[in-house]
Amino acid sequence: AKHTIVLIPGDGIGPEVTFAAKRVLEAAGLSADWVELPAGASALEQGFENVLPERTLAAIRAHKIALKGPVTTPVGKGFQSVNVQLRKKLNLYAAVRPVQNMPGIKTRFENVDIVVVRENTEGLYSGIENEIIPGVVTSLKVATEVACTRIARYAFEYAVRRNRKKVTVFHKANIMKLTDGMFIKASRKVAEEEFPQIGYDEVIIDAGCMKLVQDPSKFDILLMENLYGDLMSDLCAGLVGGLGVVPGSNIGEDTAVFEAVHGSAPDIAGKGVANPLAVIMSGVMMLRHMGEMATADKVRTAYREVLAEGTTLTRDLGGTAGTDQFADAIIKKLG
Ligand code: NAI
Ligand code: MG
Repeated sequence: AKHTIVLIPGDGIGPEVTFAAKRVLEAAGLSADWVELPAGASALEQGFENVLPERTLAAIRAHKIALKGPVTTPVGKGFQSVNVQLRKKLNLYAAVRPVQNMPGIKTRFENVDIVVVRENTEGLYSGIENEIIPGVVTSLKVATEVACTRIARYAFEYAVRRNRKKVTVFHKANIMKLTDGMFIKASRKVAEEEFPQIGYDEVIIDAGCMKLVQDPSKFDILLMENLYGDLMSDLCAGLVGGLGVVPGSNIGEDTAVFEAVHGSAPDIAGKGVANPLAVIMSGVMMLRHMGEMATADKVRTAYREVLAEGTTLTRDLGGTAGTDQFADAIIKKLG
């Protein structure tokens, strides 16, 4: 079947890694019409008034699926974060970030196999910020029972679908009694009433951080509100080789946007050295979402072979290969 995919190259390393990923997906046999549209600083550069142009939003709404590069939201110019806007406006309520050891990538730990499930529409990233009086500002943390229940149910349904054993909520309900209190209450209710066959526990997030870096193999699915999920995704990435190897998806009722966890990496942008693997892996998640299982497996097998060989790796993984060179090595394996 022919698919239509909205491609958002993004900013910084975004275009480098997304176009490399597109090449890999096409070489694996994905047949798609790509609708390329901007978001972020590059949208302004292209003459759009907003960092998240209406045309880009409308295309994602129409085609239901997007592969997105990281974006930069200019700070201090009055724009709300592109990602916060996108996730709220399209109601992409679940961010899913699988974190696993990769073949050939030596890290401090083995057997890391964690999935971060992050509430993606409210919490401390509600985007509601106010200057009360000069010198006094607030960022509002919002929790609704509907959204807390919805993300908890998503995490447990994911656990069932993927044959996972346990969901752990990271929280700070001892301090934020109302918001995080509602989050654990909703999670506990879903766990007890709907998914008694799946393990469930709650860990206060500061102690959870310590436990994670001591022995990540003890964790399975991690469920948490927006800000915590943002932070823990990068922390978990550090356990398996960094931001170059962790993909992600933003899932709504009928729309999904796939993107790596990493940002636009201004420190290495434009040099052709960024690792495209996290976006390629996000592409594999996208293929599965579209039902293209065979193509997804093909890409996965190919990049795992390249990693295992260890001769063509990008700098973040200890090699010297550039973005396109690494993508080419994967394409060669696709045969
Ligand atoms: P970052 O994730 O862009 O970079 C952190 C570090 O990881 C840097 O040293 C970078 O070089 C490295 N890195 C990241 N991705 C890499 C890759 N694919 N290959 C090799 N090295 C990689 O985080 P940072 O610097 O805090 O943020 C930069 C900008 O990106 C900010 O404007 C931020 O708002 C934005 N951002 C956007 C995201 C998105 O659109 N989904 C997510 C995170 C940040
Ligand atoms: Mg982040």
